[in-house]
Amino acid sequence: RTNKIIAIDGYSSCGKSTLAKALGKQLRYLYVDSGAMYRAVTLYFIRNAVPVDDEAKVTDALNRIHIDFHIEPDKTSIYLNGEDISDEIRQMYVSDFVSEVSAVKAVRLAMVAQQQRLGRDKNIVMDGRDIGTTVFPDADLKIFMTADPKVRAERRYLELKNKGEKITLEEVFENLAHRDYIDTTREESPLVRASDAVILDNTDLNEEEQLQFVLDRL
Ligand code: C5P
Repeated sequence: RTNKIIAIDGYSSCGKSTLAKALGKQLRYLYVDSGAMYRAVTLYFIRNAVPVDDEAKVTDALNRIHIDFHIEPDKTSIYLNGEDISDEIRQMYVSDFVSEVSAVKAVRLAMVAQQQRLGRDKNIVMDGRDIGTTVFPDADLKIFMTADPKVRAERRYLELKNKGEKITLEEVFENLAHRDYIDTTREESPLVRASDAVILDNTDLNEEEQLQFVLDRL
């Protein structure tokens, strides 16, 4: 492999996407938000009432799901079967169900295969939960992000509130705790720090400091 790969994993709402996006911009790497792909599948499952425990129905649904990214200079949008769902997948009803869907083996196999294709020949920075452990175990740099759960909930709460979502800080805190619990305890590629990943606790770091932290390790 001659292309460069940076893997960023960590807990929910640690600022992984913000950092990964900034890195992509700075280094001119392709930035891929793998969580958005799981959210897209989740949206499809919700809309079509796909039962996560019915293997045949899950397989059939996955065959009908086509996800792609539209990359523009200042924003990347995600499409589900031709529909721009970038905003819809950030809504709480998707967040509430995404970890259940992401724990399904067939879902993970399909997403990992697509993610690996994206990173086959391009310089890429990808964020998620299993990028350094499963998707790109041979990544050139692996970062494992963490931050105080209260700080994470406050950041996400403000973000959602600014978008006009009616929600309480407690609901956001509960959702993050719920997702972290399922993500770290699931059987299929759980969220865990790769042994060669550098830990980045950004509780007290601003975005510029986080970017510099990574650039210093390249
Ligand atoms: O990154 P984001 O918080 O948007 O991801 C949403 C959910 O997708 C996570 O809580 C996790 O359940 C799932 N996910 C995953 N593996 C990834 C990325 C996200 O299981 N690589």
